[in-house]
Order: sequence, then structure tokens, then C-alpha cells
Amino acid sequence: MTKIKAAVVGVGNIGSIHADIYSTLESVDLTAVCDTDKEKADKAASKFNCKAFYSVESLLAELPMELASVCTKGEENGGDHYIPTIQLLDAGIHVLGEKPISNNIEHARSMQKRAEEKRVRYGINLNHRFTPSAVKAKEWITNGRIGSIHMIDLTMWIDNPVESSPWFHLRALHPHSFNILNYFVGPVKKVHCFLNKGEGRKIWTNAQINLLFANGVIGHLRGSYDGDFPSGSFGIENLEIVGSKGRIVIENACESLCYFPRRSKSMEKFDCYGGMNHFQETFKSRIEAWVQDNINQVLPAEVNGSGQEGLAAQETIEAAIKSFETDTVVEL
Ligand SMILES: NC(=O)c1ccc[n+]([C@@H]2O[C@H](COP(=O)([O-])OP(=O)(O)OC[C@H]3O[C@@H](n4cnc5c(N)ncnc54)[C@H](O)[C@@H]3O)[C@@H](O)[C@H]2O)c1
Repeated sequence: MTKIKAAVVGVGNIGSIHADIYSTLESVDLTAVCDTDKEKADKAASKFNCKAFYSVESLLAELPMELASVCTKGEENGGDHYIPTIQLLDAGIHVLGEKPISNNIEHARSMQKRAEEKRVRYGINLNHRFTPSAVKAKEWITNGRIGSIHMIDLTMWIDNPVESSPWFHLRALHPHSFNILNYFVGPVKKVHCFLNKGEGRKIWTNAQINLLFANGVIGHLRGSYDGDFPSGSFGIENLEIVGSKGRIVIENACESLCYFPRRSKSMEKFDCYGGMNHFQETFKSRIEAWVQDNINQVLPAEVNGSGQEGLAAQETIEAAIKSFETDTVVEL
């Protein structure tokens, strides 16, 4: 079997997870890791038995890969993605970027535009919805099991003490949330956002956001960086989709999937549907989907969890910020 050659740019916490997953996939040959921190690059290269590079320029000079993950970080967890992503896209490399696509909306727009111009596959690691539960729920919706969707509600909160910028919580966490909402219901048309600062916090850590979708569905996102949860649990992410014939509830991304028919009590509940036990496993399923899209050579516009999806989520976040700042409903 011909293997796809992959590289990981930025091998900190999350880049190491990408590298680990690529290295376990039979269809992938992880040939290179790249980090401006020489020690991290060398350590990862020795762990994954591949070559270390210390700049994207030197990586591109040798070009040992067809696709690359970009797992840099920076301001609001996305400020460093722009330059390496543009460099890789310009060289015709298919890129899986970490979320947020960028904290800077102008950068995000030009990254997506460059991918389109270069006709390369550009995906974002919107891993939260790459769960068997989400796929099953989507299938139920497509097959009409809950009828026409009336409403959708999502809660996503974790405990994150970082105080780096006023919009850090919205820009860094909720690319996941808006992508989940878009995945089930489609594009957002209008946003009305309220925020507050949790006790002792300097930044806007709690959000209540009302949403109108282009298809008339109404929805709501509740988000927080002041999450409180039992030790040992990673976070809380609950989703409810209400339709004319029934309701779907997903708890903690993958831990339970429920179907409630509207007119009967015969509900169905699946624990850890498809064998996925924990949110952390979504990295593997998301990266597998990305690799499969490349094996299948899908058109750039058909990438599952595309740059366009990452951009749509970020545009909605910017609309939420504008709504809060102007105390108005903002139309996208
Ligand atoms: N998808 C998820 O569920 C999830 C969860 C947490 C974090 N993230 C995202 O993962 C990203 C990385 O976070 P992290 O905690 O691993 O950060 P990190 O700081 O641990 O790692 C980033 C690495 O990138 C390197 N780097 C920076 N600029 C570079 C460049 N131009 N070329 C090569 N290397 C460069 C740094 O030296 C560092 O080692 C962030 O965007 C974050 O939002 C995603």
C-alpha cells in the first residue's frame, strides 16, 4: 500500500497528539516534525522515528510530505497559525489546522481563500463532532426521525484559568460549538450575545448566545471557561436537538446518545455509542477522517471539517462579539 506522507508543524501538547495518531495509522508515513523549539522537534523526531526540522522553510526545502497538521498556538490559541499555514498552502501541501482557524478574522479569511486558490485540501481540527454519536444523530435527522428541527441548544464549558485577552473564551473554545451547531442545523443568520466575567475573572468567561439559523431554526449556546465538574472528567458538552417528531440528546460529546419520540415514552439510550468512551478519542476519529479524505482525494470543498467550516464558526464568533459590544442583534 502506498502511504500518505505526513508532517506535523508545532509539536507541543496537541501537535504531539497529531503525531502520535499519524504514527499509528497504517495508511500514513509520518516523515517529519517541525518546531521552532529545537528541543521539542528533536524529542518528537526521536519518539516518532522521523526527521526534525526547525523551520517551515527548511521543511519545505526538502518537502518530505503531502499533508501537514499545523498545531501552533499564539494569541487566543490561534495567532501563530497564519504564517506556517500560508507557507504550506502556497507549496501545495494539504493542511489540517488546529482550531481556531485563526483568532484574527482577516487572517482566517485569507487562509481559506489561499487554500481555494491553490486547490488544496484545508481542514480544521473540529474534533468535537467527530463522534459516532454525532454521526448517528445526523443520520436520524437526515432520515426524518425527529421530523423538522425546531430548536437546538448546546452547552460547552471547561475550566480554563487563562486570562490572555477579553475574547479568549469565545475565540478559542467556541469554534467547536458553532461547528457542532452548523453541522446539525446549517448556517447561522442572526446572533444576540450576552457575556459576563466569572468571579475573580478579568475576561468574559461566561456566554449566553441566542441564534437564528438561515433555515428558521432557533438555537442557543451556553459557554463558559468557569466550568465546574468532578475531578477526572474533562469537561461538559451537552446538546439537545428538538424536532416536530422527537428529540435527540447527546451528553459529553460521546458519552450518551438518547432519542425521545414526541408522542411516546419509548426512548432509546446508547452509552458510549460506537465504542467511543471519552472526548479525547475524538482526535483519532477526526484525524482518521482527514486522512481518509486525502486517500479518497476528495475535492477541497468536500473536506469534512473544512477550512470553510472553521471560518464560518469564527465569523459567528466575531458577530457574537459585535453583538455584545453594540448590544444589538447582529446579522451575518
Ligand atoms: N482540537 C482540540 O480539542 C484542541 C484542544 C486544545 C488545544 N487545541 C489547539 O491546539 C493548538 C496548539 O496548542 P498547544 O497547547 O499544543 O500549544 P503548545 O504551545 O504546546 O505548542 C505549540 C508549538 O508550536 C510551536 N511553533 C510556534 N510557531 C511555530 C512555527 N512557525 N513553526 C513551527 N513550530 C512553531 C511552538 O514552539 C510550540 O512547541 C492551539 O491552536 C489550540 O487552540 C485544540
